[in-house]
Formats: sequence, C-alpha cells, structure tokens
Amino acid sequence: MKLPRKLHIKSYGCQMNVYDAQRMVDTLGPHGFVDTASPDEADLVILNTCHIREKASEKVYSELGRLRVMKAEAARQGRRMNIAVAGCVAQAEGSEIIHRAPVVDVVVGPQSYHHLPELLARAEKDGHALETEFPAEDKFAFLPPPKPDVIRSRGISSFVTIQEGCDKFCTFCVVPYTRGAEVSRPVAKIVDDVKRLADHGVREITLIGQNVNAYHGEGLDGRTWPLGTLLQHLAGIPGIIRLRYSTSHPCDVDETLIEAHRDIPAVMPFVHLPVQSGSDRILAAMNRKHTTGDYRRAIDRFRAVGQHIAFSSDFIVGFPGETEEDFRATLALVTQIGYAGAYSFKYSPRPGTPAAEMREIVSAEEMDERLARLQELIDSQQSAFNKASIGTIVDVLFERAARNPGQIVGRTAYLQPAHVMAPEAIIGQVLPVRIESLERYSLLGELAAPLPTLAAAPGTQPVINPSDTRMGA
Ligand code: 5AD
Ligand code: SF4
Repeated sequence: MKLPRKLHIKSYGCQMNVYDAQRMVDTLGPHGFVDTASPDEADLVILNTCHIREKASEKVYSELGRLRVMKAEAARQGRRMNIAVAGCVAQAEGSEIIHRAPVVDVVVGPQSYHHLPELLARAEKDGHALETEFPAEDKFAFLPPPKPDVIRSRGISSFVTIQEGCDKFCTFCVVPYTRGAEVSRPVAKIVDDVKRLADHGVREITLIGQNVNAYHGEGLDGRTWPLGTLLQHLAGIPGIIRLRYSTSHPCDVDETLIEAHRDIPAVMPFVHLPVQSGSDRILAAMNRKHTTGDYRRAIDRFRAVGQHIAFSSDFIVGFPGETEEDFRATLALVTQIGYAGAYSFKYSPRPGTPAAEMREIVSAEEMDERLARLQELIDSQQSAFNKASIGTIVDVLFERAARNPGQIVGRTAYLQPAHVMAPEAIIGQVLPVRIESLERYSLLGELAAPLPTLAAAPGTQPVINPSDTRMGA
C-alpha cells in the first residue's frame, strides 16, 4: 500500500487565503495527501502567498531560502520534497519565481487550485510546472467538497467564498490584477456548500469575497440575486444560526442588504465597511468612487435599521499626496463614526498599480507617526466599545474549549471573544452570557441561564437559541 504523502500549507494574508488553503487540502486529500504541521517532514509544501501590502513577495523569498535547506536535507534522506508557490504572489510574479528560486517546483495562481494534482505530476516529470491563467472553467466546479470528519475538525464557524475578484480598481490595490474580474458563484452551489457544512455541525457562515456586496450570482429562480437575497435564503437552512459577510465596498450597499439586516436575525449586526481615508481629495486619488459623504450615508442607512449595528473599517495612511490636513480629516471621520475596531496600514506601493507611479511620496517617519495616531484613536474606540458590554447580557456562539481548563470560548455578535466556565456540550450553541469583566480584548462572564437540555443530548450539539426562534423551522 502506498504511504500517505504529507502536505504542509503556510498561508499568508486574507480570509480568502485561509479558505483557499482548506480547499487545497480537500483537493489533495483524495490523492493521498494528509496535513502536517511540520514543513521539514512534508512531501509537499505550499506557500499560499499574499501580495496586498509591503514586502509580501520578499517574505516569500526568505521562506523559500529556508525551504531550500529542508529540501536538500530531504533529498539526502532519499525523499523528494515538492515546493509550490500559490496565491497572489504566484499570480503577480509567475515564472519570475522559478527564475529567482529554482527550488520551486510548482507555481499556481488562485484560479487554478483544482489543477494542483496535475501540476504536481507535471513537475515530477518536467522539473517545473506553472499555471497562472484565468481558466475559462469554474474552479469551484472541480474543487471537491470537504469530507464530514474534516468539516467537523474545522469547527463550528466556516468561510464560504461566494464571489472573487474586483472591478473597482482602487489605484493602490493589486486585487483586480491578481484575483481578476468580479465573478459571483451561482446561488445553488453556495446553498449546497452551506447545507453540507450545516449538516456536519457548522453553525456560523461568513460569506467571503474581495468585494462581497457586489455579489450578483445566478439565483434559484434564474434571475440575478444580490447579497441580501442570498443571505435571506441561507438563513432558512436548518442549523445555520449566524451569517456574516466580508469585505464590502460602500458603493455596493444596496437596499436588499439593508433589509437583510432589518429582517433576518441570523445576519449579524457587525459590518466591515472599509473607507480607506477621510479626505475626499485622497478618496478621489484612490479612485474609491465614493466621497466621505457617500460613506456616512451608507453607515446611516445601516444605522436606521433599528438594532445596534457596529462597524469596522480599513484605513491607509500615507497615500501619495496625503497632507496633515487630509490625515486629520481621517481622524475626524473615525471620531464621527465611532468604530468597534478597524485595521490600519501604511501605504505601500504595489508594482503595476497606478498609485505606484505617483510622485508625492509621504516620508516613512510621517507614515509611522500618522499610523500611531490613528491606531491610538481606533484602540480607544475599540476598548470603549468592549467596556460598554460589561454588566450587560449578550448572546455568545460557543466555538471551542479555551486554553484555561473548564473554560469555553465563543464570540459575541460583534466578534468579541467571550469566555465562560461551562461544559463542552455548549459548543455550537448561542447562549446568553452576563459579561463581568474585560481582559485585553476578551470578555469574561458567566452563562446567564440554566442549561436544562444539555445533559439530555450529549454529543449531539443541540441548538438552543433563546433570541432566535428560527431554529428547527
Ligand atoms: N498599501 C497599503 N494598504 C493596502 N491595502 C490594500 N492595498 C494596499 C496598499 N497598496 C489595504 C486596504 C484594504 C486592505 C485589505 O488592505 O485598506 O482594504
Ligand atoms: Fe482592492 Fe477593495 Fe478597491 Fe477592489 S474595492 S480594488 S479589492 S481595495
């Protein structure tokens, strides 16, 4: 019998890469590959790379230097170690990677993961294999679904890609080049994926896409469905208690999405809506296609829904030409909106993007200083937001045993981690928790209701959701 081959994937960057790494495992599993945490014993190491910021490609090359040593050691032991570079650096740099690092056997772009087994076979025959085209066929049609035990091992919360690529062409961003044009998966395929996940214990789905609220997939009635209609349909799948989506563009907030937040309890009241800058001049230079006024109006539409919706965002400081006045406008916008959290980055020029040609560079010192000021403001908003839950009762979806014995950790609607002392049987359930204190970013509390049904159904992960009566319908 052939021994299983060991696979190690190192993922960098966004949620899409985390999801893609899982799909690579699912693709290679039927070809005899099993996951390993140690690269040095792997028969195949895949670097699932990110090109969005900074010296992402440099990180890849230094990692490849380390892998070269491991590969040589494996060869000394009479073992072949294959090395593949996947993800957005693979897409952006293509054959350049094999020139710079001949140790690489396979280069595969994000649209071609379903071809990995053939590419490996080709590399073993010809030395190298490369595929970075955007093939005409839909890779999702060829990516095998995860097996039930694999789904269970991945926990109760899962990503599902519903959309890939972006047509917005913000001047700083590589995504339209590395991930290509916007493509939406058909609703029927997404429903199949979500049902399979729900059947095997998944309770929370985060729909992901580079511009997820631009989703416009073929609906079950043959018409094009927007994201709000998709959310409405997925909320009816038995077992699914929470739905999230990420990442959204302010211009693509349509009425169906607002209605989804108003009408569907499963749609979580936490919206990641990147604005990037609070200066209209910089937004125009970024080709964001919206002003700060448009952004505030989008926020207001969510807020008008009634329930408390919290927001997070992405910011770039030091975009070419950003003055102190522009930066202050960003601070003013943050102060005005009030975020539950946000990511902020120093601008880094990406080769091939229009902004990389812009001349008015902001100095490294100014960037550092602005980033520190912005992060201080965001941190203070985040801790105020977290502190506000002390003394309140919040719904928590429990995910797994925590590091401290006896403690179970879950997440609130706003993705805050929350810890309680409780039996493991609560994993997979939403239960009310009385929040007592805050430890860094984590909420600590106790279950606010008795657990009468838990002992009755050990191991079956019953869903008791006092605030959500849809379950079981
Ligand atoms: N420099 C800095 N930050 C960037 N982002 C995207 N491209 C760049 C860049 N060239 C940030 C944006 C985006 C997030 C995913 O990464 O804020 O929303
Ligand atoms: Fe990049 Fe987002 Fe702009 Fe698309 S909308 S180009 S993914 S920053």
